[in-house]
Amino acid sequence: MTERAVCPTLHGVRLTLEPLTAGHALALFPLLADSELWLYADDRQPESVEALRERYRRWETRRSPDGRQLWLNWAVMVTGDGIGGFVQATVPIGTGTAEIAYVIAKRFWSLGLGTEAVRVMLAFLQCTLRVETVTATVDDRNAASLRLLQKLRFNVVDSADTRNLKLKSTLETP
Ligand SMILES: CC(C)(COP(=O)(O)OP(=O)(O)OC[C@H]1O[C@@H](n2cnc3c(N)ncnc32)[C@H](O)[C@@H]1OP(=O)(O)O)[C@@H](O)C(=O)NCCC(=O)NCCS
Repeated sequence: MTERAVCPTLHGVRLTLEPLTAGHALALFPLLADSELWLYADDRQPESVEALRERYRRWETRRSPDGRQLWLNWAVMVTGDGIGGFVQATVPIGTGTAEIAYVIAKRFWSLGLGTEAVRVMLAFLQCTLRVETVTATVDDRNAASLRLLQKLRFNVVDSADTRNLKLKSTLETP
């Protein structure tokens, strides 16, 4: 599959998911320069626009360096309101599984946009990439993320490590 086929532009009701490129770094950096976004994340707050640009440039291949995983990232473009965050899926090729992550800028919180962005991504993973099982890892203090996943019918499947709860959703046949 071509790079464009594995990571196309996707449309929701109030937002569009654009394949994330180095060109998004400048607009996204000020929104991501907010320590509250990274309280419970595995990832770290980006250090500079240039570091973010370089990271996104690497991701434009849409594949891990060994070629065994699709690394899919989309910029969340809120209709009439610019860039609002990003959503991410790591898809080990040929397994029917994906691990997801997502970040929405604070000024857009609690409007349902995170849920909508992830829902749009899940539909694509299911219908086009034939993903059947999706997992996410969440700190149990991250109530907004847990609520988002609950709305999308994820269930906790492993709570042994409270800082890394494992949640899973089996995507239903459309
Ligand atoms: C998690 C995150 C993406 C949610 O984005 P969002 O656009 O606000 O999500 P939504 O509005 O679709 O859903 C959030 C839900 O959590 C609820 N919520 C928000 N803060 C909450 C809190 N402190 N306690 C309980 N529920 C909370 C909202 O009310 C909403 O539920 P509702 O629709 O039933 O009212 C956003 O908070 C974020 O980017 N956080 C920082 C990064 C992060 O933690 N990413 C996930 C790592 S696993």
